[in-house]
Amino acid sequence: MKIIVDSKENIAARVSSMISGYVAEKPAASIAFTAGDTMHGIYAELANENADFSECEAFNVCEYVGLDADNEKSCAYQLNNELYSKLGITKIHAPSEAEPESYDAEIEACGGLDLVLLGIGLNGHIGFNEPATLYDSYTHTAQLTDSTKRMKAAHFGGEDKVPSHAVTMGLKTICSANNVILVAFGAEKADIVHKLVYGKTSTYVPAAMLQMHMNMTLCLDEEAAAKLN
Ligand code: GLP
Repeated sequence: MKIIVDSKENIAARVSSMISGYVAEKPAASIAFTAGDTMHGIYAELANENADFSECEAFNVCEYVGLDADNEKSCAYQLNNELYSKLGITKIHAPSEAEPESYDAEIEACGGLDLVLLGIGLNGHIGFNEPATLYDSYTHTAQLTDSTKRMKAAHFGGEDKVPSHAVTMGLKTICSANNVILVAFGAEKADIVHKLVYGKTSTYVPAAMLQMHMNMTLCLDEEAAAKLN
């Protein structure tokens, strides 16, 4: 695992140029993008890059069950609004509530994922793969934990307003990608980042599975990296 520690602003710029670098090398790259607060600065940087993303196949990592793409709380809304519309990405794929299992075939049909961009939940979730998700899981519907609902309470205007379920790429889907970039910012992520890097690879910390990925880059600000040494 490669670990990069820098200021939040510099990480945003560096991750943005890593992604545009992949696309410069492979214009029709299949890239999975995550929603969440961590991504705002990265997507703002990407929107300013002069790269051509028109051939890129974009895959949304996850979505709340019951939220359409025009609902501003949805992952699709953030990705469309901050990223796809700005970069001229039109080949957009999203997991379907009705048929989650078809998503992996859709990814395969595009040649598999070249890159997945991830954030991390306070309990170690990636996408919405909550603790105790099976390592060999493909895209599926997941019940959100109380920890995740608390973490997303501000976004939804109250913990009770957070959807109970989400559809998400599975751990196998994510780990099958050729490259993984995971970004974490802020002191509140420092404990889980420590577990990601040094913890046992247990299903109780889904992100720790990424220790075994051959091309995993962990991008942290100083606060999120504070417990690594
Ligand atoms: C959510 C999303 C993740 C996201 C993570 C971190 O639950 N499903 O994909 O990466 O939480 O969110 P944030 O960036 O807002 O801290």
